Amino acid sequence: MGKKDTIAAIDIGTDKVVALIAIIEDGGINIIGIGQHESNGVSKGQIINIDKTTTDIQEAMNNAMMMAGMKFNRLYVGIGGGHIETITSKGMVAIPRGGAQITKDDIGRVIEQAKAIAIPADREISHIVPQEFIINEEIKTNDPIGMTGVRLEGKIKIITSSSYSLSNIKRCIEKSHIKGAVYVANPIASAYATFDENEKKMGAVMLDIGAETTDIVVYEDGNLRYVGVVEIGGEFITKDIVYGLNTTRDNAENFKLNYGCARLDMVDDNEIIEVPGVSGRAPRKISKQEFIQIIEPRVREILELAYAKIVKESDVPMDRIGAGLILTGGTANLPGISELGEDIFNLRGRIGNPRDISGIGENIYDPAFSTAVGLIKYAIKEEGTSENVKRASGSGDSFFKRIFDWLKDI
Ligand SMILES: Nc1ncnc2c1ncn2[C@@H]1O[C@H](COP(=O)(O)OP(=O)(O)OP(=O)(O)O)[C@@H](O)[C@H]1O
Ligand SMILES: [Mg+2]
Repeated sequence: MGKKDTIAAIDIGTDKVVALIAIIEDGGINIIGIGQHESNGVSKGQIINIDKTTTDIQEAMNNAMMMAGMKFNRLYVGIGGGHIETITSKGMVAIPRGGAQITKDDIGRVIEQAKAIAIPADREISHIVPQEFIINEEIKTNDPIGMTGVRLEGKIKIITSSSYSLSNIKRCIEKSHIKGAVYVANPIASAYATFDENEKKMGAVMLDIGAETTDIVVYEDGNLRYVGVVEIGGEFITKDIVYGLNTTRDNAENFKLNYGCARLDMVDDNEIIEVPGVSGRAPRKISKQEFIQIIEPRVREILELAYAKIVKESDVPMDRIGAGLILTGGTANLPGISELGEDIFNLRGRIGNPRDISGIGENIYDPAFSTAVGLIKYAIKEEGTSENVKRASGSGDSFFKRIFDWLKDI
């Protein structure tokens, strides 16, 4: 790697498309370009209109490059949507050479086997995360290399996404004349932006609550344990306000941003707010409590659905989560949401702003930028081996590298 590496990231959200350009100097991330554009071709995190999304990507990217005054060497693009899933698989191999030392090749064979069993044809592997290895059916370890045994078993988590959804993203990127992108699942990117190392070790749950998706990531005992997505987010709150106040979508959104709160018990009894009339009708006055009564149940539902999914699908008991709950994504800006999350998850909450970066404007520290910033952070973790990074194309394996990264981490 040269001294100056420039990395671009594109987060194709339901609400907005974000492009970032960062210079990496001495390991530090300096964001020098931000481009944002309204997202017109995405529903629930997935592309439903190639042409519109291509235009939105181009607009965002042009703005970012204009601000940065330069291009980039590498591009990382997020994959969003409810199709992103975690599969747990196992692989088991005999150690040839009659009980010799276990090598990274043996680990590679275990992972190959785990992959072969578990992956349906219409799914792409985005990430492979070894959880634990068992030698000779008795010794459990995270680091089997160099140990002696005749049989090696591995429990592996595989994060997959729909091939169809991924190929739509690729088409938009290719139509934007950008080549050689690396594709990363959005929840993983947001986790790179927001978790700190202690939280990974102690165990924490992250929710990236966007407009129509809520991304979930669970770390426990220093290891990534679960990734999932619920198709719900802040836009659902806005729609409830549209019906609750009989107003336009734009009025409802503004109302949410200006007066919104996730908890009824946090608002003043006497506060009155004025709802503008639609199409020449007179404005109306309502109490703020009445307004929050529209919002709170939906926020509660978003958090409860995420909680239920974790309990059902991840094999991490909640009492193993020592550090707490991290809320990020645009909807994490809603006052009171962390407190409500604490009640529902019975964990200590905090808002996850993108960490450990510098750059232009306060804006970049908004939780709505976690996915885009996380893509850059992910890129840096893969630094030096960018050719080996899994291109989510099903070809070109990088699992050895992943094993090494993982071993380095523990
Ligand atoms: N201050 C705020 N209070 C309440 N909601 C907010 C606030 N700021 C932003 N939001 C909400 O955040 C949502 C957008 O979040 P974000 O930018 O993370 O979404 P996205 O990444 O485009 O969508 P998705 O991840 O679902 O595809 C919108 O619903 C918006 O109303
Ligand atoms: Mg998002």
